[in-house]
Amino acid sequence: MSVLDIGIDLGTANIIISTGRDGAVLNEPTVIAFDKNSERVIAFGEEAYKMIGRAPDHIAVIKPLKDGVISNNDMAQELIRLCILKVIGKRLINPRIVMCVPSGITAVERKAVVESAVSAGARTVYLIEEPVAALLGAGEDIMRPFGRMVIDIGGGTSDIAVTSLGGIVAANSVKKAGNAFNASIQRYFAENKKILIGERTAEEAKIKCGNLFWASMEKSGVISGRSLVTGLPEKLEISEDDICRAITEDVDSIIAAVRTVFEQTPPELVGDIYEHGIVLTGGGALLRGLDMYITREFGVKCHVAEDPLGCVARGTHLAFKVRDRLRNGFEKAAI
Ligand SMILES: Nc1ncnc2c1ncn2[C@@H]1O[C@H](COP(=O)(O)OP(=O)(O)OP(=O)(O)O)[C@@H](O)[C@H]1O
Ligand SMILES: [Mg+2]
Repeated sequence: MSVLDIGIDLGTANIIISTGRDGAVLNEPTVIAFDKNSERVIAFGEEAYKMIGRAPDHIAVIKPLKDGVISNNDMAQELIRLCILKVIGKRLINPRIVMCVPSGITAVERKAVVESAVSAGARTVYLIEEPVAALLGAGEDIMRPFGRMVIDIGGGTSDIAVTSLGGIVAANSVKKAGNAFNASIQRYFAENKKILIGERTAEEAKIKCGNLFWASMEKSGVISGRSLVTGLPEKLEISEDDICRAITEDVDSIIAAVRTVFEQTPPELVGDIYEHGIVLTGGGALLRGLDMYITREFGVKCHVAEDPLGCVARGTHLAFKVRDRLRNGFEKAAI
């Protein structure tokens, strides 16, 4: 029987599937649309994402993951199944699947994730924890007796871990990441500039004007929303300084979580991290100046991995090759 090995990064914001031969073959928003009248799924991924805020009442547009954990089991399961089927098509193959699951996942959610892979035809299912996948995908050698630290800032959670000899030595996870940044940006403008903006506008402002180090006061972007004073549409020029003020508190929560990981890490490994530096992955790593901010906080060089958004997906797939040497953070699921 032909075998296709598939790696799946099930993220709060994006689901990415990669195969050994072709790399990432599917990259879709983690969104699914369900028609309540016909009780059928009508769209998923990008197509469903476009329906957010625009669908009639009988169509539920669902993000089945929230804050890094599954909030809608049935829809998460269906989305995973549809994505796998989209990749393998009608080929009669029973793939081996490694799924990267959000940290903090419960036993029930773990079971649901495994079942969805099985219902799409998986022969064997492995589960890998996000920071291990992130380090592997960033090209780090985590098998040596040497400490490596990763901070993966996604949409729902920021996961921090230290590994050595193929296993996790210390870890922490906080529900402060890209989505929380967006919410704080919305709050900042409502409270300080009396303008109400949508989530997508906040996201665009973060990407265009986000800068945590050397944030300039110069106006470099424009946002549109509704004035809380007049109730009418309004445009406002914004600066990097605005975005920096809006999200600094969230970033400091991540910094605090990193500090606790340092405190749990044996001193020899802390020394290794000091020497090698901290690796930053996930979409949040693209925030300008975040690496410098972390470097300044800990006096340890922090560097952004190549293609930080794709690290976890790449590492999830790479885990096949090194699975015999991975200790905790990777397991074969009972089917
Ligand atoms: N250039 C950028 N600057 C700042 N943030 C960015 C940028 N590009 C993407 N992001 C953010 O990255 C986040 C998505 O990252 P990623 O795909 O790693 O998350 P995820 O894996 O789906 O979530 P999680 O791991 O928390 O479940 C989004 O919140 C998005 O706003
Ligand atoms: Mg992720």
